[in-house]
Amino acid sequence: MSATPKQRQQREMFSSRWAFLFAAIGSAVGLGNIWRFPYVAYDNGGGAFLIPYLVALLSAGIPLLFLDYALGHRYRGSSPLVFRRIRSWAEPVGWIQVGIAFFIALYYAAIIGWAGLYTVKSFTKAWGEDPDTYFFSEFLRFDDSATFSTTFVPQIALALAVVWIAAIVVLAIGVDKGIGKISKLFIPLLMVLFLIVVIQALLLPGAATGLDALFTPDWSALADGTVWIAAYGQIFFSLSVSFGIMLTYSSYLRPRTNLTSTGLTTAFANSSFEVLAGVGVFAALGFMAVQQSVPVDEVATSGIGLAFVAFPAIINEMAFGPVFGFLFFASLTIAGFTSLFSILEVVVSAVKDKLDLPRKATALGIGTVMALISLALFSTTSGLMSLDIMDKFTNNIGIVAIALIAVIVLDWVLRRIDEFSSHLNAVSSFKVGSIWRISVVNVTTLVLGFTLVQELINLIKEPYGGYTTGQVALYGWLVLAAIVVGAFVFSLVPWRGDQPLNGPPGSDFGVDSDIRRVLREPRKYQDAPDKQNNEKGAAL
Ligand code: ALA
Repeated sequence: MSATPKQRQQREMFSSRWAFLFAAIGSAVGLGNIWRFPYVAYDNGGGAFLIPYLVALLSAGIPLLFLDYALGHRYRGSSPLVFRRIRSWAEPVGWIQVGIAFFIALYYAAIIGWAGLYTVKSFTKAWGEDPDTYFFSEFLRFDDSATFSTTFVPQIALALAVVWIAAIVVLAIGVDKGIGKISKLFIPLLMVLFLIVVIQALLLPGAATGLDALFTPDWSALADGTVWIAAYGQIFFSLSVSFGIMLTYSSYLRPRTNLTSTGLTTAFANSSFEVLAGVGVFAALGFMAVQQSVPVDEVATSGIGLAFVAFPAIINEMAFGPVFGFLFFASLTIAGFTSLFSILEVVVSAVKDKLDLPRKATALGIGTVMALISLALFSTTSGLMSLDIMDKFTNNIGIVAIALIAVIVLDWVLRRIDEFSSHLNAVSSFKVGSIWRISVVNVTTLVLGFTLVQELINLIKEPYGGYTTGQVALYGWLVLAAIVVGAFVFSLVPWRGDQPLNGPPGSDFGVDSDIRRVLREPRKYQDAPDKQNNEKGAAL
């Protein structure tokens, strides 16, 4: 069965490469850059972290980003549809990606809610003289003894509800008019706000001490496997690769799109922003270190509270603290929002494709279910514990494992990797070759296989983060099991509508017919300027 005209008209598209680029950068630049990167770097030896980070970016992050773009663009569908079109039995791979995005979105929204509240609280420095006690005891009312608390924290619940309503509205509006337009507005705004934050941080006395801690490599830490695991996990999370996001976004690209140059721009923007965030955060930590006469690595409680504990402490000490606090937390909120859309879109797009539902109804239905689960789990007094465990398991096990599984399925089993390099080269100016292939197939398999085994051994040996076995089982292992079981169950649900699921067997088996037409004449559009392509290729 080939694609019908009806189906082609129905697939939404970004109106220009710029809209896609802003949406892709908006997805990549998120809490991972401002909230997660500094604390992961802080937890993994500061300076020691930058080298594994760069190696992970070049050896796996960018190559897998290209692979995601190729998959989504060539087969034009959500993750399950793409894998279904590649081979019917591969559909669960796509659903595992959807499951990971589902759980990440649940807690991701909660952190955006915290950041939104802290944006307002910055004006009055509501955390007082002891931001650590405030964050854990007053703000979150954290109770680490409860495995599942039913005691709601009203202000968190309210903030979380607002975050979900805003996200659902944007998703219901659509890919181009909702996600694309908001990203075009928010990303430049974010860049300006965050640059002001970093410049303010660099002007603080002691900033250089913090930068020394970030940029002085500690070679001995390179022998520590957990530092490498953290680096690969961070790169995947930060670049939004391997859990369906970039694959889904690229399915909304016009067939005539220069994929690799768009990918390089996204990756460069994301890592620049990440390093900029590291510079800003470590400069501020340096300031605190000098104020308190302690080393930089003793300034803050490390871990997920870094942004919410260290920053308020810094704000308390500096001139114009409330302005700095407002800008920092507003940046965090904005960055989080544009990423949350992309994570949710993985789920919405998959359900919409599978059940052939209209966008608005799907966004509303899925969004409401997810909002309720998110509220139940993360606006209660056990929220921080469940969030910490879910973040660890979905990232360090979930994303790393599915990246590995996807590569094994696509190359080791189906031998289809060359098809994707040909696809990338047919539509892109920056060509990929054997280095890309070796990175995707060999490096990814070896490094991810090794890090995954290491991480599993660590997590089995002792419960993560000092939590109880029951807590880790519920929010860690059970979540992973639910993702896998859910993937097989959803794969059994029949596809509805006139989705073209496979084409006639051959080299372009299952490839979208628009794409096939473009690939037949790649030269025609390859060298033309983007604008011209967009105009000429309006139908494509
Ligand atoms: N890429 C997104 C982030 O960095 C998920 O937060």
